[in-house]
Amino acid sequence: MGLFVEQFAAEVVLLSANKPVFFLLAYSAAPRTKRSTESRLLRHASAPPLLTCISDHCGILWVMAASELISAEGETMVVDATQRKPRILLAASGSVAAVKFANLCHSFSEWADVRAVATSASLHFIDRASIPKDIIVYTDEDEWSGWKKLGDSVLHIELRKWADIMVIAPLSANTLGKIAGGLCDNLLTCIVRAWDYSKPFFVAPAMNTFMWNNPFTERHLIAIDELGISLIPPVTKRLACGDYGNGAMAEPSTIYSTVRLFYESKAQQGRAVVTLR
Ligand SMILES: Cc1cc2nc3c(=O)[nH]c(=O)nc-3n(C[C@H](O)[C@H](O)[C@H](O)COP(=O)(O)O)c2cc1C
Repeated sequence: MGLFVEQFAAEVVLLSANKPVFFLLAYSAAPRTKRSTESRLLRHASAPPLLTCISDHCGILWVMAASELISAEGETMVVDATQRKPRILLAASGSVAAVKFANLCHSFSEWADVRAVATSASLHFIDRASIPKDIIVYTDEDEWSGWKKLGDSVLHIELRKWADIMVIAPLSANTLGKIAGGLCDNLLTCIVRAWDYSKPFFVAPAMNTFMWNNPFTERHLIAIDELGISLIPPVTKRLACGDYGNGAMAEPSTIYSTVRLFYESKAQQGRAVVTLR
């Protein structure tokens, strides 16, 4: 699956190399509507028409990520990976898949400068001792203990400014719903509420199949898609609760390679934009 995403994404980058739009496509059986995919393609006027043909012929159901080199404000975004390491804000919410969060932290820390955010519920599943020592794990307590008086910095704003990329893995049904509705009652959702959506933002949901197939999921996925958040779809397998079905978090290696490929492709395109000027 991970390999397929990478090969296909590379192909699409080539196709759109002379366009100011980068598309990353993924196969998924997630409950997304074809209609929402099509509307998204339409909204990106410079999308090569060939993309739609590819999606039909290869069983690609929807666009997983789309990030423009020209931001909403019309500024040219140039990411030069040679200048410094990318700064990744890696967050966990309260899915049982948070047991793999330390593993994700290790993968990302070999490539990027990582800071972590964990919701209170996720801390039931995370073994903090296994997280690399150089990664700070921020929690809701830090949000308030670091603020004493007017003029002090506010943690969720500082983290939002610091990060180049945000990744929430796992994304719980609860946090998905809160993001879709714009709620911000903890450190993680405050960062998301303040996020600059011209920066890449990935989520890897993880939940029981009953939750994944619930109609709320599709509604919430459509809402976050409209914000420009990229979905790394869950997979079908035996879940921690013993049930078999879709909803398990994508493998950490898939999450890592998807984010890295996206970033490096974007950095490459950013350099191309600079060269042309
Ligand atoms: C043992 C246990 C396992 C859970 N696993 C999941 C899960 O895999 N996915 C999910 O969305 N919620 C799961 N939940 C429910 C969430 O932890 C709960 O909705 C929580 O409020 C999420 O908070 P957060 O989104 O702020 O992290 C689980 C709850 C328990 C008690």
